[in-house]
Amino acid sequence: MNRLNEKQIGTMKTFIENLPKAELHLHIEGTFEPELIFAIAKRNKIALDFSSIEDLRAAYRFANLQEFLDIYYTGASVLIEEQDFYDLTTAYLTKARAQNVTHCEIFFDPQTHTDRGIPFATVINGISRALADAEAQTGLTSKLIMCFLRHLDEEAAIATLKAALPHRDKFIGVGLDSSEAGHPPEKFARVYDQAGCEGLKRVAHAGEEGPADYVRRAIEILKIDRIDHGNACLDDPELVVDIVARDLALTLCPLSNLKLNGVASLAVHPLKMMMEAGLKVTINSDDPAYFGGYINENYIETAMALDLKNSEIAQIARNSFEASFLPDAQKAARLAELDAYLAQT
Ligand code: HPA
Ligand code: ZN
Repeated sequence: MNRLNEKQIGTMKTFIENLPKAELHLHIEGTFEPELIFAIAKRNKIALDFSSIEDLRAAYRFANLQEFLDIYYTGASVLIEEQDFYDLTTAYLTKARAQNVTHCEIFFDPQTHTDRGIPFATVINGISRALADAEAQTGLTSKLIMCFLRHLDEEAAIATLKAALPHRDKFIGVGLDSSEAGHPPEKFARVYDQAGCEGLKRVAHAGEEGPADYVRRAIEILKIDRIDHGNACLDDPELVVDIVARDLALTLCPLSNLKLNGVASLAVHPLKMMMEAGLKVTINSDDPAYFGGYINENYIETAMALDLKNSEIAQIARNSFEASFLPDAQKAARLAELDAYLAQT
């Protein structure tokens, strides 16, 4: 039972909507709304298997991660020109800004595009130009993290890192996404070592559908600086203690977990238990166009389901800036903005 009445729920929503926050787990291809998919498909003269926007949206029912990924890659396949990547990114940044995201760290999946013959430069130049324009126009800061697709082999990831290095100034880290089951972290040990040698930050999806041991191996073998999802870590109390001791943050995505059947309902989402265990958790939207909500919907629905207090919600926003890869001075400035907001609420 929620402790709040209608009026208090309204107050809580306003508190979240105006709360400055960082988004740290967001796949740019997962922000591709059906309207924009259709518009760009038309521009590129690509026929879709879906007859209408409604038809496409109706297909967004997933039993698991793989069912989602199949349709997510189909959507991404209409992205051809640099302008397409620019428009996709700008559409997300506009929404993020409107939801009081003041800093974001965005994933992109180059192999999803280069495997279709799209040059790496087309992808990264379109995305980074949109990030630069948004920062100049609105002050929304951002970083880019390049993900390797874990269902492909390590040689392909190594080739992707090599293709990316001429653009080293446009991204700050590497990540690992796509199908987790059967693709353990150690499959990518060498490419993560290489990324570390280039001074790149390292993150990885772990414990989304895979076991706690995948989280442990991502930490120990891939030497990650932050854990994407990490839900399964709660199955291993010693691992939890270790994650707390290492001060590794988790980028949780509650609506994603709900839509991909990682949790039966948000009321049993592990977020609150994780906070109680001392873990540094953040709330993020993952693939908002597919999972029914951007970052504020994730905060609001989770807060309602787990009966979070404003102080806990504020702590999650604080964690998001602390766990970001911003330089210390910028991090402090973002945290000061958050404190100023909290002081006047
Ligand atoms: N999990 C794994 N891979 C992904 C996801 C996700 O939620 N979104 C896009 N690629
Ligand atoms: Zn993800």
